Amino acid sequence: MSLRILQFGKTGQLATELRRRAVEDGLALSALSHAEADFADPEGCAAQVGAHAPDLVVIAAAYTAVDQAESERELALRINAETPGAIAAAADKAGAAVVHVSTDYVFDGEKGAPYVETDPTNPLNVYGASKLAGEAAVLEACARATVLRTSWVVSAHGKNFVKTMLRVAAEGHPLKVVDDQFGRPTAAGDLAQFILDQTARLTVSAGDPAFGLFHFANAGEVSWKGFAEAIFEEALGEAAPRVEAIRTADRPSPARRPLRGTLDTTRLERVFGYSPRPWRTALAEIIDELKVTS
Ligand SMILES: NC(=O)c1ccc[n+]([C@@H]2O[C@H](COP(=O)([O-])OP(=O)(O)OC[C@H]3O[C@@H](n4cnc5c(N)ncnc54)[C@H](OP(=O)(O)O)[C@@H]3O)[C@@H](O)[C@H]2O)c1
Repeated sequence: MSLRILQFGKTGQLATELRRRAVEDGLALSALSHAEADFADPEGCAAQVGAHAPDLVVIAAAYTAVDQAESERELALRINAETPGAIAAAADKAGAAVVHVSTDYVFDGEKGAPYVETDPTNPLNVYGASKLAGEAAVLEACARATVLRTSWVVSAHGKNFVKTMLRVAAEGHPLKVVDDQFGRPTAAGDLAQFILDQTARLTVSAGDPAFGLFHFANAGEVSWKGFAEAIFEEALGEAAPRVEAIRTADRPSPARRPLRGTLDTTRLERVFGYSPRPWRTALAEIIDELKVTS
């Protein structure tokens, strides 16, 4: 019998990819929507774990509005830290393992080289601080928890940089994109498929190296401007519009962002034997999917 997977989050980028790939792979996955499990209610979410008796819990819901979090600190902390901690504690009690997802925004970007899991954290914004608190809460509450930090998540659905760039270009607005923030774009589908492919490994006995903190991102580092140019090349070929470089300082926003939060994925490769493919290859697939669905 296949493992029972309980997923928190139904409509987000990662949640959508998990749901559709689980169907393709014939896995028993139940997904709870925002309405069915509101992360503003930690006890209510924890109770869902007991009610479903899963083998594996995947937390794919989060407060992801980075700028808005600056003025909603308490809510961001509840959704990104308190509730994941309560879910992880309930999972531990129910004998389930947990997969939780975090972010490169736990780092300040000042290292000058890609970050490994043991590097000191120093979030520059409330969102990053709330996600960092969530990592700690989950890892402390559940002996069989895997936390995957990821970065620059994109897909053919939901809100993300790929879709925003294509929309802004289609509306004919000038394209000015920051050229001094670097990271590793990550396809939500690649992260979802990794989690689903590893369900057996992610539910082994406590003490296995599969539990703990890992970095997951598609291979290769790029600036937001370089990423935008690649999006237009893939989508529009010769008709790709010109992208003007601006600096982060030229576009003030409520939340500060790391200039180079690039994640090193060596530990993931060592423990799981999984090497993320280049972001550009994953991007080409997303653009193809958008061409089919538009
Ligand atoms: N997006 C990125 O660039 C990025 C980068 C690094 C790490 N991450 C992390 O990766 C994970 C997946 O991100 P994503 O891009 O898939 O996020 P997303 O597309 O923004 O989706 C967020 C999901 O969380 C749900 N949600 C929000 N508030 C909720 C609440 N109070 N109760 C229950 N559900 C709630 C949303 O449901 P509704 O839409 O119904 O509210 C949605 O399904 C998150 O942990 C995120 O922090 C994302």
